[in-house]
Amino acid sequence: MNVTVNFTVNGRKTTVTTDGDRPLLDVLREDLQLTGTKYGCGEARCGACGVLADGKRIFTCVTPVKEAEGMTLVTIEGLSEGGKLHPVQEAFLAEGAYQCGYCTPGMVIAAVSLLQAKPKPTEAEIVAGMNRNLCRCCGYPKIVKAIERAAAGMGR
Ligand code: FES
Ligand code: FES
Repeated sequence: MNVTVNFTVNGRKTTVTTDGDRPLLDVLREDLQLTGTKYGCGEARCGACGVLADGKRIFTCVTPVKEAEGMTLVTIEGLSEGGKLHPVQEAFLAEGAYQCGYCTPGMVIAAVSLLQAKPKPTEAEIVAGMNRNLCRCCGYPKIVKAIERAAAGMGR
């Protein structure tokens, strides 16, 4: 059944009218052309589709768009400010924390969420905090290093 859903995405108030049971991921990618958010598993097991919703990471592949009503969403496209990358994005670049890059948007979103909750995580806390994100290229050591670099650089 079609519903009208209002939310903010990357600072922009947005209204969509669509089947309320469509995955939020499809609406972001297909209707709003925010293709940085990726489809991986489709069943909340890989983290590729992560975005921030009211500051917390959600898996958009299993979130019906109707649940986004009133939410403030930030996708990978919304992390930079004034043309400057987010410190987590800078740290991923500096550490070369990607290979094919497919998992990277979801990894960055998860890392931002992790550092918001725990600004100075230990290595073990980073591993635990990121364990719902999969990287098929197995770039985990550099991803952990990037998150450590971001935590240090964010001056917390
Ligand atoms: S595509 Fe959503 S968690 Fe894998
Ligand atoms: S860099 Fe290829 S899936 Fe992670």
